[in-house]
Amino acid sequence: MKRVLTYLFAAGMMISAASLMFTSCTKEGPQGPAGANGTNGENGQDANATCTQCHNFSDLIVAKIFQYDASQHATGSVTTRNTTVCAPCHTSQGFQECLTTGAWETSETIQNPAPPNCRTCHKIHDTYTASDWSLRTEASFTNMLGGTTDITTEGGNSTGNLCGRCHQSRPATPEITDPTSTTTTLQPTSYRYGPHYGTQGPMLAGTGGYDINGDGLLANSYHTNRATCVDCHGAAASGNVTGGHTLWPNTTGCNISACHDGGVTTLNYEGKQTIIEEGLVMLVDKLALAGVVDTVGHPGYLDTSVPHTQKLLAIYYNYKFIQGDKSNGIHNFKRANGMITDGIAYLESLGY
Ligand code: HEC
Ligand code: HEC
Ligand code: HEC
Ligand code: HEC
Ligand code: HEC
Repeated sequence: MKRVLTYLFAAGMMISAASLMFTSCTKEGPQGPAGANGTNGENGQDANATCTQCHNFSDLIVAKIFQYDASQHATGSVTTRNTTVCAPCHTSQGFQECLTTGAWETSETIQNPAPPNCRTCHKIHDTYTASDWSLRTEASFTNMLGGTTDITTEGGNSTGNLCGRCHQSRPATPEITDPTSTTTTLQPTSYRYGPHYGTQGPMLAGTGGYDINGDGLLANSYHTNRATCVDCHGAAASGNVTGGHTLWPNTTGCNISACHDGGVTTLNYEGKQTIIEEGLVMLVDKLALAGVVDTVGHPGYLDTSVPHTQKLLAIYYNYKFIQGDKSNGIHNFKRANGMITDGIAYLESLGY
């Protein structure tokens, strides 16, 4: 096509050049009659007709930007993690690429990385209409550990699958094959062994971490399948401090009539967060006594210089899983507390 156009252009140039040469010796005749009017072209689309569905006098976008700007997505600094294996969650472009390809790695390092922002989560400027407010995805998905994640509530809210795509566990190598085993050992090579930081999705869904006793007694709290991320993190905004698109949780979300109905005055409800916080401290102290964590260089990090049984490694993994969740039990108190008490009980049975 390009070549044809080049020929046409060259031919045109030759004809113009020829007519230039001949005009000087050609006499002009009288002007012919005017031709008939052409038909009217189709009306162009008025850009305002769709753009103003969002860009208008309303403060809607302004308010959301105001809140978003105070979120960790906007203020955080980990967009620096833009290489192929980190970019799916740490950059907006990488997230969108992986949604399309279905892979958990981008094809290249993402240059000029953007943090999770309006167009990461919403279909902003896909059709340039108000329907672009819909979320990029709410679908269940195959997670990085190979299982299925579906954070849909009994009420049918699937928005947690958007958050859960990034807020999920990453594979830890070598993989624990039998978390109850007190005879086989596993030797990780990195003191950073564990599920990575953002373990909130599997914690809420009740799928992450290990049942070290293998007795199936790890229970999930009422929140699993009933509350989802934005119920608590995106409740009515208090300025740009909590709620709305700041995504910082507040008690407004807890207190709706369908849930705690005004009964929650602090996020540390019934002292549950304190129980988990103190439990984690006790657990890591015992892990240190058992020589599982490195108390010198990196307190809380796995000591890779000594071999560990799978069971001890699973207790350590659970510790990192609960620590990475950062909610201190709010996402799933029963599961977090169960993993801590099982771990402490086993370590105590060994004399620590
Ligand atoms: C679904 C609502 C929506 C519609 C419809 C929409 N926009 Fe936007 N637009 C946004 C949002 C949200 C932003 C991002 C604000 C931010 O990130 O700070 C934005 C940003 C912009 C920007 C700033 C530059 C940029 O890309 O961030 C321009 C320019 C713009 N839009 C033009 C348009 C035009 C022109 C149309 C119609 C052809 C349109 N928008 C339709 C929601 C919309
Ligand atoms: C594209 C991936 C991605 C998506 C989608 C995403 N997040 Fe995040 N989120 C991150 C990353 C990365 C951070 C850490 C940002 C930083 O510190 O630079 C983060 C941080 C946060 C934090 C602050 C954590 C802290 O360190 O205290 C909250 C709260 C949060 N996200 C909630 C949500 C919720 C709720 C949703 C869904 C509505 C969501 N996120 C969707 C990637 C994502
Ligand atoms: C599956 C999604 C995902 C992938 C892949 C991923 N991260 Fe993250 N990462 C997150 C989320 C979500 C957070 C924020 C968790 C939070 O604050 O609760 C985070 C947080 C971090 C933090 C900040 C921890 C802190 O508390 O300050 C670092 C550093 C980090 N990631 C490094 C990396 C590196 C390096 C890679 C690639 C080797 C990577 N991440 C791959 C999702 C991911
Ligand atoms: C981390 C993901 C995330 C980011 C970033 C994000 N949003 Fe949202 N937004 C959501 C979720 C989730 C909802 C609730 C959708 C639902 O409940 O169906 C929502 C709801 C909205 C709504 C209400 C939509 C409706 O259908 O009524 C607007 C407007 C909106 N967001 C604008 C923005 C703007 C503007 C930005 C950027 C400044 C932004 N959002 C950034 C996840 C996000
Ligand atoms: C039942 C309410 C609830 C649900 C559902 C919920 N969260 Fe939370 N989340 C909290 C509370 C409360 C905290 C602890 C906040 C604090 O102690 O300051 C928290 C903490 C966090 C943090 C650490 C940042 C912080 O605020 O300290 C992240 C990240 C996070 N949640 C993400 C998510 C994601 C992603 C989902 C969905 C998969 C989710 N949460 C579901 C209530 C909830």
